[in-house]
Amino acid sequence: MKKIFLGVTGASGAVYAKDLLKQLPLHGCETHLCVTPDGMTNINLELKKDYKTAQEFAEDTGAEAVIYDHNNLAAPVSSGSYRVDAYIVAPASMGFVGRAASGISSNLIERCADVAMKERRKLIILFRETPLNLIHLENMAALTRAGAVIMPAAPGFYHCPDNISELISFITGKIFDIIDIEHRLYKKWGSGG
Ligand SMILES: Cc1cc2nc3c(=O)[nH]c(=O)nc-3n(C[C@H](O)[C@H](O)[C@H](O)COP(=O)(O)O)c2cc1C
Repeated sequence: MKKIFLGVTGASGAVYAKDLLKQLPLHGCETHLCVTPDGMTNINLELKKDYKTAQEFAEDTGAEAVIYDHNNLAAPVSSGSYRVDAYIVAPASMGFVGRAASGISSNLIERCADVAMKERRKLIILFRETPLNLIHLENMAALTRAGAVIMPAAPGFYHCPDNISELISFITGKIFDIIDIEHRLYKKWGSGG
């Protein structure tokens, strides 16, 4: 069973976090979830909810997850000796991108990103911002050089989506492609089915 760390920060795009939270266990993964306070604010705003905790968010999504407080830098997942197969930050704010690119581990998600890069493990950063300034671009270039995979929260349209759910599934599917999880979340080009 793959262990996947999912960090949720205060960028727009709570639907991506919700879908990952739902799909990871359905695809045989153990999810380790951490949400920043601004991530929680956006989850409530965009999903029209009033969750007090990440636990409530996970339970309402029907997903099983190990939940961590963003301030708990003593959590097992904070150490490179704790084996995690892949780390996903989705959605990722530009604040997170800047701090991660500078090696600043001021909360558990930033620490996990730092650990992923130092241990040469998979780290996917699904950022959401537009347009981008030079600071954003340079930070993302630094993270790419350090081994992270930078993904824009920008779904394709070549699979002819009929609804928003299919756009979200496309992004979850692209993340699963990178972390080697078999799925049928979107129709792959040329697959015929
Ligand atoms: C409604 C709302 C939407 C936001 N959307 C974005 C966004 O799409 N991208 C981004 O980089 N920051 C966005 N922000 C700003 C971040 O939430 C802010 O920089 C925050 O400090 C990020 O902190 P965190 O990375 O610890 O969660 C948004 C803030 C609010 C209140």
